[in-house]
Amino acid sequence: MASRPAARVLRQATRQLAVPAQKRTFVSALNTSTAARAAPKAAVSASFQQARGIKTIDFAGTKEVVYEREDWPKEKLHEFFKNDTLALIGYGSQGHGQGLNLRDNGLNVIVGVRKNGASWKEAEQDGWVPGKNLFDIDEAIKKSTYVMNLLSDAAQSETWPAIKPLITKEKTLYFSHGFSPVFKDLTKVDIPEGIDVILVAPKGSGRTVRTLFREGRGINSSVAVFQDATGNAKEKAVALGVAVGSGYLYETTFEKEVYSDLYGERGCLMGGIHGMFLAQYEVLRERGHSPSEAFNETVEEATQSLYPLIGANGMDYMYAACSTTARRGAIDWSKRFKETLKPVFNDLYDSVRDGSETKRSLEFNSQADYREQYKKELAEIDDLEIWRAGKAVRSLRPENQK
Ligand SMILES: NC(=O)c1ccc[n+]([C@@H]2O[C@H](COP(=O)([O-])OP(=O)(O)OC[C@H]3O[C@@H](n4cnc5c(N)ncnc54)[C@H](OP(=O)(O)O)[C@@H]3O)[C@@H](O)[C@H]2O)c1
Repeated sequence: MASRPAARVLRQATRQLAVPAQKRTFVSALNTSTAARAAPKAAVSASFQQARGIKTIDFAGTKEVVYEREDWPKEKLHEFFKNDTLALIGYGSQGHGQGLNLRDNGLNVIVGVRKNGASWKEAEQDGWVPGKNLFDIDEAIKKSTYVMNLLSDAAQSETWPAIKPLITKEKTLYFSHGFSPVFKDLTKVDIPEGIDVILVAPKGSGRTVRTLFREGRGINSSVAVFQDATGNAKEKAVALGVAVGSGYLYETTFEKEVYSDLYGERGCLMGGIHGMFLAQYEVLRERGHSPSEAFNETVEEATQSLYPLIGANGMDYMYAACSTTARRGAIDWSKRFKETLKPVFNDLYDSVRDGSETKRSLEFNSQADYREQYKKELAEIDDLEIWRAGKAVRSLRPENQK
């Protein structure tokens, strides 16, 4: 779509992404109606209210509760968890990120993983010391007041018969996904009564949880309570959410968290977007376009130029930033894509809600050779022409030139 004026405008816009939010006046530079465009943003900040550490924010007309890291300075976290031992069970993507953040926050955290697994070695490499703050799973749970179940979702189901009897009354059970308790008919993770059960689900990978923390920022997370035995479950969830590295915590339920998460990753976040990429690329190739042209017009321009702008400023801004030719066609075709795709998204939501996606995931990821099977599938994807063309295109980026 890159007409010259559009490309120039995009370059200019990209440069302006570095300036503070209140100075982002790219749209006014485009000579469009600044007043009309500024209004919604002003409305959001004007409706921002705070009461005792809880903020209610008006998200496009719906008021939602948001908790903020600012209300939980380190001293307050230390005081809150002064009598607690936080046992992080599992040291994969989330275990690594959340565990190191908890440790850096100065809290009493221990790691529990199986002794012969890859995670044990990784934990040792990250400075966790066997017998001091690194134990096998049973021992870590026995020592803890908080059991943070960060095993893979399939492993949570597999290990539950062994873990459940160790979750005694005084402990708090923590998850980073609603998967296990919400789909208990399939996972068999039946929560014992009389304990607090909380959730903090970072909206990003464990690596991002760690990186943002180290940059002095925080990741957005969902926060929820499944069972409140003490009356303090919500506060525990928010405090622990901040302690693991969240910047803002958005209140939800276990059900809503798991439905939206499974739906999103199968849809616009990964599955849907990959399907769109493949469909667009294949048509271009079948109509005689070269691999580089098809890739550039499908993936490279999207990820390198347009998507960051949408992320920073929204879709209307993106439409305003492109040529009038691109704008006319994109607005028209978006309606057709939406109408065509909406039934597919409804099928997807049904499949999440009725447990079909969970069943498939548990069955597949519980197989002994699931890692090999994924390896084979990913190698097939890597070998698709679109992604081979992508490698060549990426190698030409200035940062990849020797
Ligand atoms: N990854 C994300 O981006 C993300 C984001 C938000 C929330 N979450 C949620 O966070 C939780 C943890 O996810 P994750 O991605 O961090 O998991 P993961 O990287 O897949 O970690 C797996 C952990 O589970 C252990 N494990 C696997 N099978 C086991 C078994 N049979 N017995 C004992 N331990 C076993 C592994 O230990 P070994 O090394 O010993 O195999 C490893 O420590 C999940 O509920 C997930 O949905 C993940």
